[in-house]
Amino acid sequence: MSKARRAGKTIGLVPTMGALHAGHGRLIEQSVRECGLTVVSVFVNSIQFDRQDDFDLYPRTLAEDVKFAEALGAQIVFAPSATEMYPHPQNSFVEVEKVAEPLCGKFRPGHFRGVATVVLKLFHIVQPDRAYFGEKDAQQLAVIRRMVRDLNVPIEIVGVPIVRESDGLALSSRNRRLSPEDRRIAPVLHEALELASKAIAEGARRAPEVQRKALAFLARHPEIRVEYLEIVDPDEMQPVDSITGPVRVAAAVWLGGVRLIDNVLAVYY
Ligand code: PAJ
Repeated sequence: MSKARRAGKTIGLVPTMGALHAGHGRLIEQSVRECGLTVVSVFVNSIQFDRQDDFDLYPRTLAEDVKFAEALGAQIVFAPSATEMYPHPQNSFVEVEKVAEPLCGKFRPGHFRGVATVVLKLFHIVQPDRAYFGEKDAQQLAVIRRMVRDLNVPIEIVGVPIVRESDGLALSSRNRRLSPEDRRIAPVLHEALELASKAIAEGARRAPEVQRKALAFLARHPEIRVEYLEIVDPDEMQPVDSITGPVRVAAAVWLGGVRLIDNVLAVYY
């Protein structure tokens, strides 16, 4: 890699937790297109999990991941062990205030602290010029953008649009844990977000009204338990009351034992 750097090649990093699918694939493809050398990291980061069972059940498919990443043109798959990433007890953490607090931050204490910490460690290890993150995790992307700005990290953060199944379900490593019945119901999450987005495009300006409409739609499916559904400003991810510009409609729901998140950008005309 130092050879690539000396040769003046742009280095792209795609941080992942593995179990790679076409959503990750889109990030890898974009990096391969834009950079001379693409590194895909695969590390299931224990310190960002708030529940032990989620960490234990997280799919681990490294051999397939390596093939998948290489087939798309990535030159390096960096898959450190837990002791390589955390050789000593970790006493230093990155805390991004405000943007990490609502939405997932409220329901997964310590999650974004774990994400920001491991991402900064990966940045220091790989030293990329650019790093690619999916809008699927819009709050994560906002947290990383904020960290990079606040801490003068000399890396360009690139956001990549969400990749969906043909029925609208956002691709996720956790989808493979859905039962066939739950998999059939799962697209209603995206439908609810689209409903909200359409209401906004058609002129709705009161966020609680739009929120109620989307929640009423989800309530028709008793299998779904809503953790949150909020209308937030797209940079700071703070819930808004009146809609005066572009907003993100973001939600987290439980279906069976699986937590799904999704979001759409809603444009105000
Ligand atoms: P992971 O869930 O593996 O996701 C890795 C990257 O792929 C993230 O930037 C995520 O937003 C993106 N991604 C996942 N599904 C996507 C989809 N359907 N469309 C577009 N992009 C998608 O996010 C993490 O890992 C971790 O928190 C990590 C950043 C690696 C830190 O541990």
